[in-house]
Amino acid sequence: MEKEDTIGGDDEFNIEYLPEDYAQYDLSFKIIVIGDSGVGKSCLTTKAVKNSFEEYYQATVGFEFLTFNLKLNDCIIKLQIWDTCGQEIYRSLISNFYRNSSLAIMLYAIDNLESFEHTNSWLTELKNQANPEVRIFLVGNKADLEENRKVPKEAAEKYKIDNNLDLFCETSAKTGYNAKSVIVEAAKYLYRDYLNSKANGKEDNKNNNEKTGQKLNSNSNEVKNNDKKKKCCV
Ligand code: GTP
Ligand code: MG
Repeated sequence: MEKEDTIGGDDEFNIEYLPEDYAQYDLSFKIIVIGDSGVGKSCLTTKAVKNSFEEYYQATVGFEFLTFNLKLNDCIIKLQIWDTCGQEIYRSLISNFYRNSSLAIMLYAIDNLESFEHTNSWLTELKNQANPEVRIFLVGNKADLEENRKVPKEAAEKYKIDNNLDLFCETSAKTGYNAKSVIVEAAKYLYRDYLNSKANGKEDNKNNNEKTGQKLNSNSNEVKNNDKKKKCCV
């Protein structure tokens, strides 16, 4: 029996999924997906956005770009998902994409211990290059390969806590387990941050070290004076 998603499922927001080419939006956010080559970055993003999965491995060259549109309550959110390549030779290229990312999904594969150990270097790079307020999700992909598991869930949970990351979960691009939900969860985090920054204004600068309620105005791109803007969502 296939596992049910373990994230999301709350009723904090009414969620409506919108087509990939939906033109209007109120807020847009950039999400970057990083991690070693072969951990499933392209497959996971493709599963989340297009609900398809490819067994055949084709390494990403540079990056690929996908769009995920959804409505949380009355706010139309456009997520620009940057699926990067994991190969070492392209590392310097990727560093250009960290900038302006609101959230990073750091992916490893549960059947590949090395990919989990390398999370340290991805995290260091992220902290050096990205906005200090960037949200970070740690995601263990290939959860369908339980019999080949090399990374215990507990080790990843501990890593998330020790490094003050925002979320840890496991996914499977193959079965779809948590694939769409992790992207929806990202949208919820970013939308909540946006609402908090609106509510708290500059006061939040005092809490820069706090993960919650921090000011993330620089992380969101509210559409201003743009004919694509349908309405204000708050
Ligand atoms: P680079 O583009 O080289 O950085 O790799 P990537 O991280 O984008 O990996 P990709 O998504 O191309 O997947 C690599 C291989 O792993 C492919 O053969 C996929 O079919 C396989 N794969 C990806 N996700 C899963 C998963 O959840 N479960 C299983 N069993 N295989 C997966
Ligand atoms: Mg790829």
